[in-house]
Amino acid sequence: MCGIVAACLISEPVLGCLIEGLESLEYRGYDSAGVALSAPGTPRRRERGRVEDLKERIAEDPLPEARAGIAHTRWATHGAPSRPNAHPHRQGPITLVHNGILENHDELREVLAEHGAVFESETDTEVWAALLAFEERKTGSGVKVEAFLEALAAAMGRARGSYALAILHENHPGRVFFARNESPLVLGMGEGGRYLASDVAALLKRTHEFLYLEEGDLGWITAEDHLVVDRDLKARDLRPERVSWDPEAVEKGGYAHFMLKEIEEQAGVLARTLQSAAGAEGDFLPDFRLSDEKLRNIRRVVMIACGTALHAARVGKYLCEEGAGIPAEADYASEFRYRDPMIGPEDLVLAISQSGETADTLGALKVAISKGAVPAAICNVPGSSLCRAVEASILTKCGPEIGVASTKAFTGQLLALHLLTLRLAQARNALPEKEIERRLEILRGGHPAMQTLLSAGAREHVAEVAKKYARKPIFFFLGRGPDYPIALEGALKLKEISYVHAEGYPSGEMKHGPLALVSEDMVVVALAGETGNYAKVLGNLQEVKSRGGHLVVVTTTSRREAIELADDAILVPRTDPLIAPMLHVIPLQYMAYYVALERGCDIDKPRNLAKSVTVE
Ligand code: M6R
Repeated sequence: MCGIVAACLISEPVLGCLIEGLESLEYRGYDSAGVALSAPGTPRRRERGRVEDLKERIAEDPLPEARAGIAHTRWATHGAPSRPNAHPHRQGPITLVHNGILENHDELREVLAEHGAVFESETDTEVWAALLAFEERKTGSGVKVEAFLEALAAAMGRARGSYALAILHENHPGRVFFARNESPLVLGMGEGGRYLASDVAALLKRTHEFLYLEEGDLGWITAEDHLVVDRDLKARDLRPERVSWDPEAVEKGGYAHFMLKEIEEQAGVLARTLQSAAGAEGDFLPDFRLSDEKLRNIRRVVMIACGTALHAARVGKYLCEEGAGIPAEADYASEFRYRDPMIGPEDLVLAISQSGETADTLGALKVAISKGAVPAAICNVPGSSLCRAVEASILTKCGPEIGVASTKAFTGQLLALHLLTLRLAQARNALPEKEIERRLEILRGGHPAMQTLLSAGAREHVAEVAKKYARKPIFFFLGRGPDYPIALEGALKLKEISYVHAEGYPSGEMKHGPLALVSEDMVVVALAGETGNYAKVLGNLQEVKSRGGHLVVVTTTSRREAIELADDAILVPRTDPLIAPMLHVIPLQYMAYYVALERGCDIDKPRNLAKSVTVE
């Protein structure tokens, strides 16, 4: 949802570093891109489209050399994707990039226009630049850095909404100012200079040392120094944190797409997440810092998330209720936050998010915290806003996920939910120790089964099936019990990257309406593995088959009847029902990938979408 990057370098021209950062951040938005440099006149180049298009524009119209600059890749909110609406935006001496939404932009635009501001774009960001220029004129900051910070703090006081800003000022060469509220921003410190970015992935080639800026922080960076203050301009004492992610993790490493690479990393994710969950004394989740007493007092688990993470939460509901004997709910974060939910101190509110920066999830968590709930998280990004907002978190060890379609984060979240369930069961004596150990053993056994599913043979078979049906206009994904959220996830993956209409449905619900849709045009992908209720699933498959739909069944060798009914069968290894859903999702991810490939879609950057949805 827009990516920003800024750098002040000691001895190197900054443009290459900014472009490199933009390329890593492009998954956050790819409607337009732009860059501005700290040089006389603050030269900038902007272009509609991808970072590639911006590079071509710069090649046609080169920029002067400079050591400091700011850059942006946009996911359009206010104003269509176009060159005039592309960042950086400028008003007077101020040029800035912005990730977020200035909610009171209309009102401010009017007031600022009365004071002489002239706007060239339809964006809320240009209003931000005008607001800052206006506040600066009031404080008369001139060349004084402190006075400009005062103006910035004053502008923050008038702005409503979310923002991460990187700002160049003509009077302050070699310095980039910043401010943050609700949108993510990190400050990197490397040997070659200082940096700002929407996430650490953009800077991994430059540094592993980061300050995670917090709500209301503002300040500046130069090549060799930085300052972070709060809105009262009091110095903040933020500790640098080291991020161990490998810079190669943000490269495709020989794969055609990040999505394919990330699907194939899933067996490793399981192994790493399990390993990091093991405590020194045979315990598990030692870093999940909620006492047994607190866990015993919880009466309900309420999970909040969006998209793929919500599908993981929906599986989590089954796990918690069955394994820990505790009522559980899963809700859309965007609904939860505005429905005045009945939540209190006896509820564990578990926010699940790959990025830890999803605005709706953070907003929902805020509501839960204000009502006294115990806040916890499952998240993939250490140091993210989500991890910082909760009392306890489980980190999935997926490494950076770049493909817009979430894959490895999903299986990581499922595993974390299993572990949390067992932790709750242990604290509440809901399962005997032996049973907990047995289940942990089953989870450990997931790794080889997953490797089988990720083998070239298994992948190629799904690719053939996907190719056969790639031009069909409607897909239904069916599952029962914990396989139902897996069906939802299969449908989301397909619609997201191949633009084919797809729905996930509980198998038993087809006869209550959707069966009417079954025709030659429809492909039904049904999950009929080892998750139980097989006899019922079989009945549901027969209902579809007898009405002429194309039936693809994901099942095991032991399910003869399902295999015979199917037009195509995709076999998964026989495992304990506990982990079957986690395995069933793999062929569905491959299916979405290969349908999209066959249809010539832009797999890692599907139209209209962005990876981290940091606005509402
Ligand atoms: O970073 P998060 O897990 O909070 O993101 C939530 C959703 O935006 C995300 O899962 C989205 O649905 C994916 N693009 C699905 O593949």
